[in-house]
Amino acid sequence: MEKDMIVNGVNFNITNAELFKHSVEGIQKSIATPKSFFCSDNIISWNRNLSFMTDSSFMQLVQRHATSDIEMAIIWRTYVLCYFARLATHLPGDFLEVGAYQGNTANVIADWIDIESSDKKYWLYDAFEHTGIEANHALPGHSPELFEEVKKRFRNYKSIHVIKGHVPNSFSQGFPESIAFAHIDLNQAPAEVATLERVLPILTPGGIIVLDDYGWHGYRAQKEAEDPLLARFGLSALELPTGQGLVIKPL
Ligand SMILES: C[S@@+](CC[C@H](N)C(=O)[O-])C[C@H]1O[C@@H](n2cnc3c(N)ncnc32)[C@H](O)[C@@H]1O
Repeated sequence: MEKDMIVNGVNFNITNAELFKHSVEGIQKSIATPKSFFCSDNIISWNRNLSFMTDSSFMQLVQRHATSDIEMAIIWRTYVLCYFARLATHLPGDFLEVGAYQGNTANVIADWIDIESSDKKYWLYDAFEHTGIEANHALPGHSPELFEEVKKRFRNYKSIHVIKGHVPNSFSQGFPESIAFAHIDLNQAPAEVATLERVLPILTPGGIIVLDDYGWHGYRAQKEAEDPLLARFGLSALELPTGQGLVIKPL
């Protein structure tokens, strides 16, 4: 007999309710085989290969550059970034991260693609401190010393340029002529839109943008501001299960 069942406001008929039950049973089984189970960074998934978790070179790299548990928590996002960054090394243009914070993710990417043996520059931008008036929220690592600490972190990387200040104004201190890969992670819409206004016209064909906050409901204002801008350039973002938005400029 058909029955209705409401789960999180969604009306399931009996067929969907059976699917839901099947999924819950899948979770139960996966807990018994934890290698296929991932629960972190607002993702609960089961019955997955989680290939990155068995890639020892990737796991060691993330662990080497981690400064807190957060880097392990967001590891699926980092895996996505590393995959696309490596793909972008074959394209003309530089790399950039807008919203680099302590440089953890940039450090993993730089080593994953061996940036020093490439012809690329990697531009890192951040305010590095928080005065209380910014549209983005403060983070525990923000401080007047953070800029110097990040510069020190990358002192042996000739290709990495660390630029302090509020974007987009800080772009006047240095900005690439063409871009192969951009990671944009500012936790606020106005500066991200201003960044995209600069990035999109010089994105190389095949070039890749990863928008860290695009799929997060709490940062929905960013998606809403960015979708029309991307559309103006004939582009759109693919919302990934990690919450990232992936934009690839067609060749
Ligand atoms: C979530 S953190 C970035 C984390 C980093 N991408 C990582 O993966 O380790 C966001 C950063 O954006 C920076 N930010 C936000 N708005 C900014 C602006 N207008 N100019 C410069 N930096 C900004 C903040 O200072 C903060 O450090």
